[in-house]
Amino acid sequence: MQIAFTTVGCRLNQFETDALRGRAQAEGHEVVPFGAMAEVYVINTCTITAEADADSRQLVRQAVRRNPSALVVVTGCYAQAAPAAVAAIPGVDLVLGNGEKPQLLTYVRGASENGGARLLVGQTTGRQIDDYGPGIDSDRTRAFLKVQDGCNYHCSFCIVPEVRGPNRSQRPERILDEIRRLRAAGFPEVVLTGIHLGTYGRDLTPPASLSELCQRIAALDEVPRIRLSSLDPHEVKPELVRLLADSPRFCRHIHLPLQSGDERILRRMRRGHTAAQFRELVECLAADVPGIAVSGDVIVGFPGEDDQAFQNTYDLLEALPIAGMHVFSYSRRTGTDAAEYPDQVPKVVKAERSRALRSLVSRKAQAFRGRFVGEILEVVVLDRDGPDGLLEGLSDNYLRIWFAGDPALRGCPARVQVERATGRGLLGSLRDRPFGGSSDVGSEDAAFVPLAVLGVA
Ligand code: F3S
Repeated sequence: MQIAFTTVGCRLNQFETDALRGRAQAEGHEVVPFGAMAEVYVINTCTITAEADADSRQLVRQAVRRNPSALVVVTGCYAQAAPAAVAAIPGVDLVLGNGEKPQLLTYVRGASENGGARLLVGQTTGRQIDDYGPGIDSDRTRAFLKVQDGCNYHCSFCIVPEVRGPNRSQRPERILDEIRRLRAAGFPEVVLTGIHLGTYGRDLTPPASLSELCQRIAALDEVPRIRLSSLDPHEVKPELVRLLADSPRFCRHIHLPLQSGDERILRRMRRGHTAAQFRELVECLAADVPGIAVSGDVIVGFPGEDDQAFQNTYDLLEALPIAGMHVFSYSRRTGTDAAEYPDQVPKVVKAERSRALRSLVSRKAQAFRGRFVGEILEVVVLDRDGPDGLLEGLSDNYLRIWFAGDPALRGCPARVQVERATGRGLLGSLRDRPFGGSSDVGSEDAAFVPLAVLGVA
């Protein structure tokens, strides 16, 4: 059957869509773009903000309009949080919770045969992590591995623990096996992902930690380059910083959910870190891991955020060598404590603060990119078109660089000299391929045959 997928939300949600897409292809289904006619539409939703809910609903309505006789399946966090509201959208056939998502294709087959609308949304309290296998990014170069799911914390603004359940971790042996398999299949980069990666392993028997897992990965004979997804600042341990500094296998990139640079607001958010700890960590990372890209998330307009509290966030980010930061406006989520706080910030103030912070972040990102002009960066060449027919490479410190080269390089590592920083990325010229000692970019290199096996290419 023809099946189309789309996703709203975070990297983990995207990973789950990618993994389901790969499975659908492996089962012989034709995966078509979401904008095309399909027999089945799958919308993997998010509920982190009111906008995410609205985006999710809009995509559902688009699918119904595009093919009114298609089977429309809605899953993910918005489906988990508000199943009745989702089921009430005209044209929805199947609503699946996050726990049911891994079996989505089985439910789709059942729904096709029975022709009925169903609502299957269980609890999120299961102790086992779902086993999706790897998910292949849309640039078809990087493989994502879900090593952890859920969260035991209850930040006062966050709905995620309600829709994702408690902390669950994948066993280290399983992760090491997957990494070996992905390496053998030619993937030059693997991203370890989770909802709360810093709590990896605490639920296992015997308990493990992210640092231990990373040390075991670093000790493997052959490893693709490894990137870590988001980590809470207080969970970045010195062993992990040392690994980022010493092991060329780990990308010099770290994503830290700061959320606020004001101590009073952080306490009200019930975050586990202080602004002072964040400052110290970023300064330590910048000193110990030269060239590291520090990115993160920050929320403006949290209840009680006055002008001074916002200024504290602004000043903190201005003072630090950050490479980027996602700026979110606080969104009231029913079922969270902060939704009940009386001192909500007016929308117009949130919009103004968001604009100011985005403009600061854009300047900081440009300054970060500019530092690398003249340097040679090791990149993986993404399988997508850059501007003007150029290739696009992604460096270990998360810089995008466009350069001229043979399209056969897609999916391979390469070394690129940075020539110019632009508003969006970097322009450069190809030097050579980094590993294996060859400077002949056209040469055969069996270790880097891209995207071969796995039934995903
Ligand atoms: Fe959204 Fe669920 Fe991720 S709420 S941000 S898709 S965990």
